[in-house]
Order: sequence, then structure tokens, then C-alpha cells
Amino acid sequence: MNWQPAPPPPELSEWIQAEDSLTQRLRRYFGEVAVEILRETPACATDYERSATGTTTGWVREVILRAQTNGQPLLWARTFIPALDKDNPWVPLTKIGAKPLGEVLFTLQDAHRGPIYSGQFRGLKNFRGTPYWGRWRSWRRQGYMMILTEVFLFHGRST
Ligand code: PHB
Repeated sequence: MNWQPAPPPPELSEWIQAEDSLTQRLRRYFGEVAVEILRETPACATDYERSATGTTTGWVREVILRAQTNGQPLLWARTFIPALDKDNPWVPLTKIGAKPLGEVLFTLQDAHRGPIYSGQFRGLKNFRGTPYWGRWRSWRRQGYMMILTEVFLFHGRST
């Protein structure tokens, strides 16, 4: 998967800059959402995950959020957690199953967000070929970092 930094297009800038839960935003626009887990596995870091964390491998979760009513794909998301040692406070995120991880994050009091980086993503699992707009940012908890990437699969003026 590859990230090309670029400022967000106007029709997605609100979504890309949003500091509240994207899951809740998606529910407001599309109704109830369902998490489809694509993979949860040890894997290699992307280039930007490697530069941000200084780690080449980690635990990866990739999902698609779909509208429950018609299955429309809304959001593609990837979580990268380096070095899952037993003290790592992100370990519980590896056990949430079909709960939207984005939403779980907002219940953690001691999780701190880094700046948002926007741009186009290519080579998403199950969506190869086409580039999609999205964002990534680091999160930090008790000195441990993780990287969350969120890519928008709907387009046009959904805001
Ligand atoms: C996830 O379940 O992995 C997930 C859900 C919603 C997000 C990000 C990640 O915004």
C-alpha cells in the first residue's frame, strides 16, 4: 500500500480533518455500519508507518466499514501496532473483533492523537488499482505508538 501526500479535495476535507469519531459521522449519513475484517495478522509496515514508528514489522488490522442496509463500502481502515510486547497498552485493540476500532479509540482517556496527514492511497487490499483519498495519523498511549489509516470509499458530495 502506497501513500501520496496531498491536500484533501474540498468535498472530502471535512471528513479528512474530522476530530470526532468517523464511525459516528458515517452512521449519521449512511445509517448503521458493519465492520468486515480483511485481515488481522503480523505484517510489514508501509513506508509511512516505518518512518513514523521506526519499525519495519508489526501487527496489522485491515477492515472495510459498510453500510448495513445495502452493503455499500464506506471506509477502508488499517491499524498498525509495532512490537506487541505484553506491556503494550494497545494490545486490547487486537481483541475487539467486529467492533469499530475507530470508535473504541474515543473511549480511551489516555490516548493522544498526532497530526493528520492526508493524501491518496493506492494498493488497498480488495481495492487495488484505484487511488482513494484518506488520512493517517499516529496515536500514542503510555509512550507506545500506533498508526491508524482511514480511506474514504464513497465519493462525491456525501457531506
Ligand atoms: C476498525 O474497526 O478497524 C476501524 C473502524 C473505524 C475506523 C477505523 C478503524 O474509523
